[in-house]
Amino acid sequence: MIIGVPKEVKADERRVSITPDKIKGLIESGHKIVFERGAGEKAGFPDSDYPCAEIVSNAQKVWESADLVVKVKEPQQEEFKHFRQNQIIFTYLHLAAAPELTLELVKTKVIGIAYETIQTKNGSLPLLEPMSEIAGRLAPQIAARLLQSDFDGPGKLLGGVPGVEPCRFMIIGGGTVGLNAAIIATSLGSRVTIFDINLERLRAIEYRYRGSIKTMLSTETKLMEFLKRTDVVVGAVLIPGASAPKVISENMVNIMNPSSLILDVAIDQGGSVENIKPTTQSNPTYIKNNVIHCAIPNIPGSVANTASTALSNATYKYILYLANNGIENLITRNETFAMGINTLNGHVTHKALAESLDLQHVDVIEAL
Ligand SMILES: NC(=O)c1ccc[n+]([C@@H]2O[C@H](COP(=O)([O-])OP(=O)(O)OC[C@H]3O[C@@H](n4cnc5c(N)ncnc54)[C@H](O)[C@@H]3O)[C@@H](O)[C@H]2O)c1
Repeated sequence: MIIGVPKEVKADERRVSITPDKIKGLIESGHKIVFERGAGEKAGFPDSDYPCAEIVSNAQKVWESADLVVKVKEPQQEEFKHFRQNQIIFTYLHLAAAPELTLELVKTKVIGIAYETIQTKNGSLPLLEPMSEIAGRLAPQIAARLLQSDFDGPGKLLGGVPGVEPCRFMIIGGGTVGLNAAIIATSLGSRVTIFDINLERLRAIEYRYRGSIKTMLSTETKLMEFLKRTDVVVGAVLIPGASAPKVISENMVNIMNPSSLILDVAIDQGGSVENIKPTTQSNPTYIKNNVIHCAIPNIPGSVANTASTALSNATYKYILYLANNGIENLITRNETFAMGINTLNGHVTHKALAESLDLQHVDVIEAL
């Protein structure tokens, strides 16, 4: 197969989809890599690190030659013109938050495989996990900065000092993002409560981190009670493939302390706060109802070297499997991987996505 790696074009995106150490294995398996000049540079991987790949001068040349385009973030509008029938795009797609992109993939009959909906039988999301670990670990770091006076924040130190209270975190969603954020925030001295609707999840966290991380079953009443006395709210909920549930309404934001911070990590799936708007790494915040809102959809892009390596470590065996076996074998023999197929032959093949966008769902075998 010809595997294409274009440079990422989303605002402030610095990651590259395949790191140099993975290229050799793909080539030894008989595949060819077409790599856009400079695609790895911002992640610390210059073109000279890719001696076995064919380096081409622009994205057009990658897209027109590749059977399989491997990216990091969802294609941006300027990339739609490259789409062609039966080309495979393997990347984070987050289509529930991108109806226009979904319709374009359907119209052009592109095979859209989303990293974030590849799901094992036990429910884990092996290609979302590494970026969720990074986003979770970065969340308290971002919060620490945004609470500083020199970043126009309320001038609070996460851990406080003797005689001065530490900051209080509410983390909504106790999965990979939520738990990683909680571990770092507590290690910096903050007081952390994780909210989730899954009691088993809360039980596991409570038994493992007894005392240091508090847990709470997420109900509107409890959220309202805690929001009045919190400094940082981290939105970390997920229903795989679907739009993020809106757990914080505008009315709930209204009762928060002035200058408290909402960090909505779930913005890539549309956000967990009513009417929240995406922000960027260069312009990370806006103020609404006296509350600082931060909703960066590509948080790991700010640690591009670590994030590219972690992503490529996880995706490599899937890229190799797909390139070696082709799409038909993948669908009929690999249930976990087939969960990633969101669009095929002009159909939406992921059920939760179809329901979120009110589109017709066609089973992936039928669409084949
Ligand atoms: N912004 C970024 O750069 C970035 C990076 C990585 C992940 N993410 C996003 O972060 C979100 C969380 O990812 P994750 O890997 O931690 O998911 P996860 O599946 O590991 O955890 C999600 C948790 O949310 C809980 N949940 C679902 N609905 C809920 C509700 N209504 N109230 C309370 N809890 C609820 C689930 O029970 C689960 O424990 C996803 O939207 C993911 O796409 C964003």
